[in-house]
Amino acid sequence: MKLGFIGTGAISDAVIRGLLTSDYPASEIIVSRRSAHISQKLAADFDRVRVEDDNQTIIDQSDMIFLAVLPQIAGDVLSTLRVPDDKKIVSLIATIPIADLKFWLGTNAQCDRAIPLPPVEHHACVTAVYPGSPDVMTLFEKLGGAVAAATIDAFDSYAAGSALMATYFTVLESAAQWMVKQGSDYADARRYLAALFSGLAQNTDKSPDQSFADLYDGHITAGGLNEQVAQTFIREKGTDALHIALDEVFARIKASS
Ligand SMILES: NC(=O)c1ccc[n+]([C@@H]2O[C@H](COP(=O)([O-])OP(=O)(O)OC[C@H]3O[C@@H](n4cnc5c(N)ncnc54)[C@H](OP(=O)(O)O)[C@@H]3O)[C@@H](O)[C@H]2O)c1
Repeated sequence: MKLGFIGTGAISDAVIRGLLTSDYPASEIIVSRRSAHISQKLAADFDRVRVEDDNQTIIDQSDMIFLAVLPQIAGDVLSTLRVPDDKKIVSLIATIPIADLKFWLGTNAQCDRAIPLPPVEHHACVTAVYPGSPDVMTLFEKLGGAVAAATIDAFDSYAAGSALMATYFTVLESAAQWMVKQGSDYADARRYLAALFSGLAQNTDKSPDQSFADLYDGHITAGGLNEQVAQTFIREKGTDALHIALDEVFARIKASS
């Protein structure tokens, strides 16, 4: 399978590095020269990466084409290109609907959207895909896993979920600062909380059949400290704030698509 990338930025770099360190059978990966520092480094690091100047040449020489330019320039860049119907398209471009992509590219080719995140480089992230064509699911399975969204609303809910990364660090920073106020050293508090959350993530990973609610039950003592903190968090509208934040980012995704 020959893969082509239109746009060689941060996320293309992570996907390509992840694929080429997996057993995915990519015979060649052709990338656009743009972001020359990234494309040149990829070609230097991997024999199977080739750099091309012309986006149409990338399409013509690839079986599966990844679209990874920024949404605000997607129409201008893609409208100048043509994708034959027998090719496959995977768009990583946030918010742009499949119908627009196909219109700009003048094609009826198979087209999926996907939301890979930077940890795919280390095969450590599950990628949401819509609608989830089998060959695209197989590819992202190699990067840590893939989930197929049954509807575009479900896909957009994964996009909203992916926006929780900064909130995760906000919770950790806020807790560390609180511990510092009580007299802890920041570096020690950081180390302690990072290990605690990393351990919880590992427990969660090792228990795929347990719901998060089951894991809650497994990590509290009735009437104990953990239950107290969780119930205070809920009582003080922490979960309400989370749902408001997700509703608002979901609305923003919908408004821009
Ligand atoms: N970063 C993430 O975690 C992430 C996750 C999921 C999806 N996405 C989506 O993936 C897309 C790319 O994001 P990114 O973070 O990788 O952005 P980025 O680092 O800014 O990469 C965008 C790339 O597009 C290139 N480009 C601009 N005009 C071009 C043209 N005419 N032909 C070919 N390439 C062109 C840029 O080259 P120059 O630098 O030379 O301008 C750059 O290599 C976005 O649509 C974003 O929504 C990103």
